[in-house]
Amino acid sequence: MISVFGSLIGEDELNEIKTSIENQWMGIGPKVRLFEEEFAKRLSLPGFTLLDSGSNALLLAVKMLNMPSGSEVIIPSFTWISCAHAIVLNGCKPIFCDVDIDTMNVTRKTIESRINKNTRAIMVVHYAGKPVRVDEIKELGLPIIEDAAHAVNSKLKGRSCGSMGDIGMFSFDAIKNLAMPEGGGITAQNPEIMEKTKVVRYCGIGKSGFEASRQKQNRWWEYNIIDFFPKLLPNDICASVGLAQLRKLDALQARRKEIWEIYQRELEGISWLIKPQNAATDEQHSYFTYVIRAVGACRDRLAQYLYDKGVYTTLRYHPLHMNPIYKSDARLPVTEQLNEEALSLPIHPRLSDDELAYIIDLLKKFGA
Ligand SMILES: Cc1ncc(COP(=O)(O)O)c(C=O)c1O
Repeated sequence: MISVFGSLIGEDELNEIKTSIENQWMGIGPKVRLFEEEFAKRLSLPGFTLLDSGSNALLLAVKMLNMPSGSEVIIPSFTWISCAHAIVLNGCKPIFCDVDIDTMNVTRKTIESRINKNTRAIMVVHYAGKPVRVDEIKELGLPIIEDAAHAVNSKLKGRSCGSMGDIGMFSFDAIKNLAMPEGGGITAQNPEIMEKTKVVRYCGIGKSGFEASRQKQNRWWEYNIIDFFPKLLPNDICASVGLAQLRKLDALQARRKEIWEIYQRELEGISWLIKPQNAATDEQHSYFTYVIRAVGACRDRLAQYLYDKGVYTTLRYHPLHMNPIYKSDARLPVTEQLNEEALSLPIHPRLSDDELAYIIDLLKKFGA
């Protein structure tokens, strides 16, 4: 079966892990610190804290805004569960908004109609790696959390996604553009918040994970707990994989871009298929996922046809507002339309030219 997502790992990752094993150090340590420095440098972030997952980075991001319980946070419904869970688990309420049909992203307009006196923040998601126009959303005057889980290599007007709002988060899970076994992280414009994210990730202990055991000179085993927080620590094995991936990110991105451009060229003129929008001239795309729209009520049939021929596709995401657990009464016509039409096709650095040609051939033959 041809997989829809994937990463490319090998000798480089093995060599980085090997040095950690040889040094008898697997937990949080020098590799985590180095990854944090190199990642922040590459994306020009004010700082970066590596965590054990993107989901926990979201949890920490919402927590860092310190909102009174019951505060409303506007988020797209067309996103991953962790975005809404992070809000609920911090005692706040997710308010789902719609997206634009062409970019599949939130816009100032789709957010504005959901703002009321209880709104305290906005969470935007750079869907598929296409940048949200954060500059326009900033004009609404609310704190912004940027979910850049898909957007490790995306930019708007030269600025990295994740670095434009108040707080940004990234995911490095095993299928992301920069993959680790599990991992995520957070950046913040406010230096105090940035510092705090490093500190509280170790069960809310008032020293960073590296320093916590050394904070008292003569009673080093005591600690000063400054917040209630679970353990969100990254480790040097994951950071080793991340370092190797970071060093070859340009090559990984080049392959994603190549696949994207072949799809864009070859899928032109298919009557039932709407291709995803390219990056605008002031944007850089990460090509995390290639999402087509199959119009005319044929999406499910298409997914089954491809599956039967050995090609796995999926829908990212089943809209959150349609899931009863959130008790939402939102009606979001564009998101609901995407729920019927959208489909992610395989795009990842391990996809071969032959596999790509096979998928394109199947798409051309579908419904013919
Ligand atoms: C948009 C989005 N946000 C957050 C996450 C959570 O990241 P993680 O899987 O690293 O917990 C994901 C994961 O796929 C995601 O797609």
